[in-house]
Amino acid sequence: MAINTNNNIPLNQEYESEPVAGFSDIFRWLNTPKNSLGKDDSIYYTCNGRGALYQLFLNIPSEYGATVLLPAFHCPTVVEPALSAGYKVKFYDVDLEMGKAFGDFTSLVDDDVAAVLVINYFGFKFNIDKVVSSTNSRFALIEDNSHSFLDARTFRVSAARGDASIYSFWKLLPSTIGGGFTVASSFFEPVHVEIKSSVKNSLQCNKHIFGKALGRFFYSRFGQAGREKKKLLEGPVTDRNINKSYPFSKLESLFKLPWLPRKIMHYSNLESIVSIRRKNYKTYSSLLVGHQRFAALKPILEDDVCPWAYPILLEDRHNNDYVLRNKGLLFFTFGEILHPELKGGDEAFSQAVELSNNLLCLPVHQDLTDAQIKQNCQILIDYYRDS
Ligand SMILES: Cc1ncc(COP(=O)(O)O)c(C=O)c1O
Repeated sequence: MAINTNNNIPLNQEYESEPVAGFSDIFRWLNTPKNSLGKDDSIYYTCNGRGALYQLFLNIPSEYGATVLLPAFHCPTVVEPALSAGYKVKFYDVDLEMGKAFGDFTSLVDDDVAAVLVINYFGFKFNIDKVVSSTNSRFALIEDNSHSFLDARTFRVSAARGDASIYSFWKLLPSTIGGGFTVASSFFEPVHVEIKSSVKNSLQCNKHIFGKALGRFFYSRFGQAGREKKKLLEGPVTDRNINKSYPFSKLESLFKLPWLPRKIMHYSNLESIVSIRRKNYKTYSSLLVGHQRFAALKPILEDDVCPWAYPILLEDRHNNDYVLRNKGLLFFTFGEILHPELKGGDEAFSQAVELSNNLLCLPVHQDLTDAQIKQNCQILIDYYRDS
């Protein structure tokens, strides 16, 4: 069901999680100075976050172990790069607030662990105390800043606390693709690979960005009439095929980030993005308090956070989300599909399974208007009042 909000951005699935470039984003480099990201030459660019992880795993010196320790609650795109780089994977559980390691972390860290990955979920700093105090043996601490590369106080890439950080810029910026990594200690001596992708690939990327900008332009002129009708969903997601949903390719992980997305990234207005995303987050916070059937995962927005989304825990989300989508709710999921290497039925991963079944992410991106955020809240509140 399409809802008329009298706003420029359609309530359409493609606008749910990430911002989309308009022509002003594409051509901003012509009349605007570079932002702090564009001036930061410590970043090694890749086409996405998974590519950055793969390149980092390839860079772990060979004298270290053969296992990478990953959070049980994750996106499968963090597991594939480790496996593809030749590592075994083990998982540690995270608590239901997604703020710290849960359970006995120390027993998992032995001499065979070459790297531990921590995810700063939704842009909130993960507590690394357990990780850094876990053992005397040396491993790489990799911080996954894929959900939000930006520090909301400095408008720069978040400062690394471990040996290296990875980023997925397209989650906050309208560049469609773009990832990267930085290295903060002597653990890594990075060998950064950049293979020029084929002309066809680069053209396809540009076509995609321009196509979306054109779609956005037409929508702002002609509204929903100019767009395809959204397909109603019939039931919960049952396709658990990670290769389809989260494709990973060793070759693409080495591709050079093309020119156009790079330009969009380096000339985006980071201050304005931080301010809108934080404002949207606070609107959700103020409108979604005190409901019995769902609760904010991170009620307090710390000063340094530029949020990826407004995460909530919703009872039995996986059986309600498709109904909510049909009612026009804008949302996306994270961790809905866990990597099959995380073996089912293990007690230790109960939190991950619970999060996977109940987490729902409400978008806060800079293309959304106040009216759309309010309407999103209303859909959710109405649904639970009526059901
Ligand atoms: C925590 C985390 N790390 C890494 C990635 C991979 O980022 P990308 O999609 O840019 O490859 C994702 C993707 O959503 C993610 O959620």
